[in-house]
Amino acid sequence: MEVRVTTSVAAFHDEAASFVSERVRQSPSAVLALPTGSSPVGMYRELVRRVRDGVLDLSRTVCFNLDEYLGLGPDHPQSYAQYMQHHLFGHVRVGRHHIPDGLAADPDAEARRYEERIVEAGGFDLAILGLGPNGHIGFNEPGSPPDSRTRVVELSPATRRANSRFFGSVELVPRRAITVGIGTILEAREILLLAIGQGKERVLRAALEGPVTAQVPASFLQRHPRVTVLVTPDLARRAGIGQ
Ligand code: GLP
Repeated sequence: MEVRVTTSVAAFHDEAASFVSERVRQSPSAVLALPTGSSPVGMYRELVRRVRDGVLDLSRTVCFNLDEYLGLGPDHPQSYAQYMQHHLFGHVRVGRHHIPDGLAADPDAEARRYEERIVEAGGFDLAILGLGPNGHIGFNEPGSPPDSRTRVVELSPATRRANSRFFGSVELVPRRAITVGIGTILEAREILLLAIGQGKERVLRAALEGPVTAQVPASFLQRHPRVTVLVTPDLARRAGIGQ
């Protein structure tokens, strides 16, 4: 893993966007796996700015979101479909974009269909990931096996609590989601992990330096040959990384 500690939070967002831009310039029809949550908001803002400035073209990329809450449709303000409209797809043209259907009548079939689409697209050229405070990637919670595929998952109480900040109350946070699996993520040709946020120091250390264990799903990234970890300076300091 290559760990890069940025000089500031602004530089973090800028470097994340530069990383993605470079890959898309090299391969304009790249297949990208995209995260949600707070971590990538600044990166999306920078990507939109670059497209508007005419220095980046995303119009041939194929985008797959990593996850979606079950029970929330694209019109729900907290659905990841809505999030993506708000932060990226509502502002710039991409080739194609996919996100699991949170209202699918048969969620297991929807998960299988989503995995098939990823395979048909040739897998991910670049998977961009956030890091959950409990070590999850996508919605692969602790206990997720390394060979897992896109599937329906139960959200842990810790994740529902962490994400309740977006919903106003933990009771309103869905209990289940569809997530791309760890096996699917590990088959990406390259991975970018965005490490930013409060309360993640222990889990970041465990992901980068601890044993590879299903208890910290992000630790499986240690098995991948091409991972870049971007870390904000404050998180790096708190985690004792790159000092
Ligand atoms: C969320 C998402 C993940 C995200 C992670 C980190 O629950 N499902 O894809 O990467 O948790 O969230 P945040 O970036 O808000 O810290």
